[in-house]
Amino acid sequence: MHIHAYEKIWLALSIVLILFLLGSVTYGAVGPGVAMVADSEAQIDANALDEDDRFAEPRVEQVGENEYEAYVVAYQFGFDPSPIVVPEDSTVTLQITSRDVIHGFEVAGTNANTMAVPGEVAEVTVEVGEPQEYGIVCNEYCGAGHHGMEGKLHVVT
Ligand code: CUA
Repeated sequence: MHIHAYEKIWLALSIVLILFLLGSVTYGAVGPGVAMVADSEAQIDANALDEDDRFAEPRVEQVGENEYEAYVVAYQFGFDPSPIVVPEDSTVTLQITSRDVIHGFEVAGTNANTMAVPGEVAEVTVEVGEPQEYGIVCNEYCGAGHHGMEGKLHVVT
């Protein structure tokens, strides 16, 4: 088959463009992206959570007058602790990680919504008011028990 010189040039340009695009995608994925994640302090060894100060014993801790910190581990198929119990009229910072696969962590009826990724610690802060029970749902498909995976956040007096 005969290829006209013109077509050869276009072909060559197309290949260069494709390589350029591939290059930029790859660079974006393994270049600065990874460095940025590695720089953050939110990394954790998902296989050694029992050796971590926060997640060895998932719990709620008081850190200020009306401030609490909750350390939450998502797993197939639930959340630990459950329920998460906090006093009314407080600010609760939740640190969430997973010990197996990617899960979701959404406090139903609030804007607290994040992913729980093994090896990473996500942080969301919620302001709670009146005593109330909130459901916590997993909104990332995580296996056979996904649809039944839920937790509770109890705001108590
Ligand atoms: Cu955990 Cu879906």
